[in-house]
Amino acid sequence: MDAPHDRRGWFRGDSDCTPMSFPRRAYRLVLLGPPGVGKGTQAQLLCRHLGMCHLATGDLFRSAQCQANPSPALRAAREHMRRGELVPDDLVIAMVRERHACLRCDGGFLLDGFPRTVPQAEACDELLTELGVTLDGVISYELPVEQIVDRLSGRRVCSRCQATYHMSVRPPRVEMQCDRCSGELCQREDDRPEVIRNRMRAYAASTEPLIAYYRERGILISITADDTPEAILEQTLHLLHEQAARPARVAAVPKARA
Ligand code: AP5
Repeated sequence: MDAPHDRRGWFRGDSDCTPMSFPRRAYRLVLLGPPGVGKGTQAQLLCRHLGMCHLATGDLFRSAQCQANPSPALRAAREHMRRGELVPDDLVIAMVRERHACLRCDGGFLLDGFPRTVPQAEACDELLTELGVTLDGVISYELPVEQIVDRLSGRRVCSRCQATYHMSVRPPRVEMQCDRCSGELCQREDDRPEVIRNRMRAYAASTEPLIAYYRERGILISITADDTPEAILEQTLHLLHEQAARPARVAAVPKARA
């Protein structure tokens, strides 16, 4: 399975989200983990292997940069990102809801960066229930903070297709040029040290509680991301297949908080 997906439906918010290929088994997954742990890198590898579509809210907000006329909501989201703050829940939830067709895709999906707070997780559960779709697993990557800072400072991203590189670990074949589409590589504006600190604080306060949220539901897969991207992929696939082979558990879902 190696066909890149057409993500125009996700970026534009319309219903045009036809998979380029149909995998044998459609996975529906969420990726969790602190900024820079390698979610985007694993998402690209997992989607190539399993054939689902990579739906990243960060990519969606960053796509506002390339649009001639981004909506006021997208412009506001970008301002929050520049400061390393989370985009407000109601805005994120509304944008994902607008793209619900992507969650019904027969090819499956990999949500990267959503949900990111408990209210977003509750809204996500509600939306998936309405659509008659269930999550197969939530993969949580973990790593000490010093390694995270190193990964973020060396990261470069293609300005055209968003493919991710690292100047020493995963360099492009031609300096500052994307291997896939020849687009120019650049550094993300939220990879500056002071903004990284804000992002780490936002993660600890708002996103870390989701680990317990999904553990309670019996669908959490925790992985230490301290290895090469290929070795982490192998471990992820192994644990995912192991979980898929287990009899389905009925998750005891606590009631939404008041
Ligand atoms: P988002 O785009 O989701 O960013 P993030 O979660 O901060 O994560 P990153 O993309 O920075 O890192 P990553 O884990 O994907 O790591 P990567 O694979 O690139 O969100 C950005 C912002 O958008 C947020 O701060 C917020 O403002 C807003 N936002 C988005 N969604 C939101 C939501 N739902 N609610 C509210 N706000 C939201 O890897 C990093 C580097 O390490 C790369 O250079 C890579 O090549 C390298 N690397 C990867 N794996 C390895 C490895 N195994 N070994 C060595 N190097 C590696």
